[in-house]
Amino acid sequence: MAQECATASIGTAYRNAPTCFSTFSKKPRNRVNHVVNKKIKTMKNQKEIKEMVREKYGEIATESKASGCCSTSCCGDESGGDEIFNLVTEDYKSIEGYAEEADLGLGCGTPTQFAKIQTGQTVVDLGSGAGNDCFVARNAVGAEGKVIGVDMTPPMIAKARENASKLNYNNVEFRLGEIENMPIAENTADVILSNCVLNLVPDKEKAFAEIYRITKPGGHFSISDIVVEGILPEKLQELADLYIGCVAGAIDQNEYLQMVQAAGFEHVEVQKKTMFDVPDELVEKYLSKEEFAQLKAENVAVWSITVTGSKPV
Ligand SMILES: C[S@@+](CC[C@H](N)C(=O)[O-])C[C@H]1O[C@@H](n2cnc3c(N)ncnc32)[C@H](O)[C@@H]1O
Repeated sequence: MAQECATASIGTAYRNAPTCFSTFSKKPRNRVNHVVNKKIKTMKNQKEIKEMVREKYGEIATESKASGCCSTSCCGDESGGDEIFNLVTEDYKSIEGYAEEADLGLGCGTPTQFAKIQTGQTVVDLGSGAGNDCFVARNAVGAEGKVIGVDMTPPMIAKARENASKLNYNNVEFRLGEIENMPIAENTADVILSNCVLNLVPDKEKAFAEIYRITKPGGHFSISDIVVEGILPEKLQELADLYIGCVAGAIDQNEYLQMVQAAGFEHVEVQKKTMFDVPDELVEKYLSKEEFAQLKAENVAVWSITVTGSKPV
């Protein structure tokens, strides 16, 4: 990994770390592979994980509908009494096409910033939530283009459709479905977007294979996601709350990029990288003093990255 960023350990206040551009090394990380596979097996089965994710994001969609709040910190679900995670939410408000009602504070980057969307194109947003990135994309494709959001959580789809209707957009469509098996024909998308979603998908290889299938030859993606550097202790990996908070489902950055390339994408590049701040108090709650000290010593770091890549012509 040719990378110029400094790293910081879990719990270190290191928001807005320097932006970096890096290229991907193909060197395999077998130890990480092993740990990731073990994690998926031990935590819960994939169906259970997805049910848990669907339930949680269903609550978030419903609560936001009821209260009209959730501007920047919904991911931890304060109202539900679960742990609170400060996702690296970037300020979307200045981006053209931003629609406040679609912003539930669930993103971890601004994938539209690197997406190079053009008028008339077809854009697909994976895990579209209430439509935040879809409406920004709609602004870029204009009335001639098309935007499709895919999400597996019915209340999110309902909220996104309500938002599209309020905004009078008839070329923004939301489809209920899973990223691992998308209700979208092959070679549909000029541009794929996704914001803080793939970390929640247990079978990431299947997800990337699907992304490849629905991308047009010559099309490209811009994906913001959470990754780790180092290995999260198993105790943390198994915590449902941390999974929902986008941390425990995150895999090693090199592994992640390797998977994207294995799916067939080329020119895979990390465009932006920002430290994800997991508070010490939260981590300390689940680890012994020794485990916590070891974690700090090993400089395990959680990052939000925005990655781009393209499907060969
Ligand atoms: C952290 S939220 C991000 C929402 C949106 N991208 C945003 O930035 O506001 C994750 C979203 O992904 C959806 N999701 C998670 N796993 C999914 C899967 N396997 N297939 C489809 N949607 C999924 C959830 O329902 C939820 O709406």
